[in-house]
Amino acid sequence: MTIFELVKLTLDELYQDAVTEHGTEVDQVITECLGYLSDSYKDLTSDEREPVNYGDPAVRFAYVFRYVAAHGDYIVQLLKAFRAEMGGAIFSEPTVRVTCIGGGPGSDVIAVLKYLSDMGKHEKAQKLICYLLDGEQGWADAWTEFDEKIQTDVKVSPVFQKLDVSDSGSWKSQKKFLQSDIFTMSYFVSEVMSQDAEGDVSDFWMKLFEGAKPGALFFYIDNGAKPFNEYIDGLAGAAGLETVFSIDNKRFTPSYSEQASELAEYRKKFDGLNPKIQAYLSCRVFRKPS
Ligand SMILES: C[S@@+](CC[C@H](N)C(=O)[O-])C[C@H]1O[C@@H](n2cnc3c(N)ncnc32)[C@H](O)[C@@H]1O
Repeated sequence: MTIFELVKLTLDELYQDAVTEHGTEVDQVITECLGYLSDSYKDLTSDEREPVNYGDPAVRFAYVFRYVAAHGDYIVQLLKAFRAEMGGAIFSEPTVRVTCIGGGPGSDVIAVLKYLSDMGKHEKAQKLICYLLDGEQGWADAWTEFDEKIQTDVKVSPVFQKLDVSDSGSWKSQKKFLQSDIFTMSYFVSEVMSQDAEGDVSDFWMKLFEGAKPGALFFYIDNGAKPFNEYIDGLAGAAGLETVFSIDNKRFTPSYSEQASELAEYRKKFDGLNPKIQAYLSCRVFRKPS
């Protein structure tokens, strides 16, 4: 199984939604959305910044096309690096609950599936229950019946939950996801740190870290900038989490050896606006003490 096969499943669905919304203008609108996204990610530390609006299916298509394969691959690299350092399985039970915070676009769940497929019998998980928490409801459709569309040895049940971390009213009553064994936070801290004017975002992180079960692992991966690392290190430390793995501002390139031929049709349409390929990243693995 390749990352691109998995990405293609969501891209096709999103492209159809974008066609329904924009008709014959669709490719032009998507091209503009690719520009909108790169502009939006330029000034992530500014308190003045407007949250990115993923409400239009053309924006969601643009996001998945440009970022999901690379982000998914970076998460696979982090999981493999952590496994190598630990010298043992990460998914050590037959059924594993994974919560992907800001996981609507699918980079995180795709990464976990790819990692488990690469690891084969070296990991014990046979069934994944994946909570995809995200503030944008529009991502949900891509995950409905996802398990019907994929052929993997590991069974996966994605559960999409709309949750806005900047509005405590939307997350106070949601608790089930706290029972997860593994949490992923990929390019999410940088997305929401500037939305913390009322303090709800930081309260969310504290609720998560304090409410998670002993032994839970948190995989943080983000764009390398110090303010995000310092922010999440501070909160994790205040909640008593141990930092068991750390990388600071290191250049990553996707490790996929496979050809992205699955995406050829879209690459042709959006020539010159190809998926992201390299980035400076910081990573942490935090563990809740047993
Ligand atoms: C940059 S994307 C990261 C997606 C994915 N984890 C990845 O690595 O590609 C940020 C995600 O956060 C979601 N998001 C933005 N603000 C949010 C908020 N206040 N609460 C919950 N999700 C939010 C967006 O809908 C989007 O799916």
